[in-house]
Amino acid sequence: MFSNQTSANADHRLPTMEQESEMCSVFSNQTDVDADHRRYTTKRALCLPSSVFRPLLVFLMTFAFSGWALADIALPPPRTEGGMGLFEALKKRASVSGSDLSAAEIKLEDLGTVLWAATGLNRGTKGWTVPMANGLPPYCRIYVAGNDGVWRYDWATHSLKELSKENIKGGIAAQSFVKRAFYVLILVADGEILATLNNEKDAAEFSQVAAGAMSQNIYLAAAALKLGTRYIHSIHREAIRSALKLPQGDEPISLMLLSK
Ligand SMILES: Cc1cc2nc3c(=O)[nH]c(=O)nc-3n(C[C@H](O)[C@H](O)[C@H](O)COP(=O)(O)O)c2cc1C
Repeated sequence: MFSNQTSANADHRLPTMEQESEMCSVFSNQTDVDADHRRYTTKRALCLPSSVFRPLLVFLMTFAFSGWALADIALPPPRTEGGMGLFEALKKRASVSGSDLSAAEIKLEDLGTVLWAATGLNRGTKGWTVPMANGLPPYCRIYVAGNDGVWRYDWATHSLKELSKENIKGGIAAQSFVKRAFYVLILVADGEILATLNNEKDAAEFSQVAAGAMSQNIYLAAAALKLGTRYIHSIHREAIRSALKLPQGDEPISLMLLSK
C-alpha cells in the first residue's frame, strides 16, 4: 500500500529534476536575499564595517565559551627533597598575622607541595602523608579558593579539579582578613567515606584528628617554603556548603590561609 502511494506521488506530485533545480535556485536566491538583508540590517544596527564586525564576533564567542569551560590543573610534582630541614621547620612554625597577609602570587609548585604535605600519596597508591584510620582513603578533602576560582585537590592524580571560576574567599569566614590570603584551603569531612564507619562519634572524631594532622603538615610545609599560613576555625559553614555545593553529610571543618 505504502509503495503504491509513493509511486503515485512520483508520477503526479513530485517535480522533475529540471523543475527541482529551478526551484532550488529560486529558493537559494530568496535565501541569499534574506541573509543579505539580515546582515545589512544587523551591521546597520551596530554601525560596524565587516572588517570590525567579524573579528569582534569571534572574540566575543571565544570569550564566552572559555568562561564556561571548567579546566582541571595538573600540579607540578611536589618537592620531596632538599630545602629546609624538619627541625628548622619546627622551629619556624607559626601563624601569620592577618595584617601580614599579602596578595603576592604563590607558585603552583609551592601550592602543590603544600597540598601534597597535607594529604598526598607518599607510598604507592594507599599510603598518605597523614595517617588515616581503618584503612580508609583520606576522609578529609581539601578545596582551594583563589582569586579566580575554586578547585578540589585530587590526591590520586595530584591535580586540581575546577569547580567554579568565582572568588569565594570573601564570604566564608568571620574575619575579614581571610579574603586577603592568596589561597584559602578549605578542609571538609567526606560524609560518604566516613559513613562506612557506621559510628557517628568515631566519624566526627576521626575527621577532626585528620584535619589536625593535615593542618600541622601544612604549617610545616609552609614554614619550609617560607610561606605564611594560619588555622581558622571561625568559618561560615552554610556559606561554604553552598559555595562548594557540598552533598548532604559533608562537613566543613576549618580553613588554612596561604600567603607569601
Ligand atoms: C583549633 C584552633 C582554632 C583556631 N581558630 C582561629 C580563628 O578562627 N581565627 C584566627 O585568626 N586564628 C585561629 N587560630 C590560630 C591561633 O590563633 C594561633 O595558632 C595562636 O594564636 C597561636 O599562634 P601560633 O600558631 O603562631 O603559635 C586557631 C588555632 C587553632 C589551633
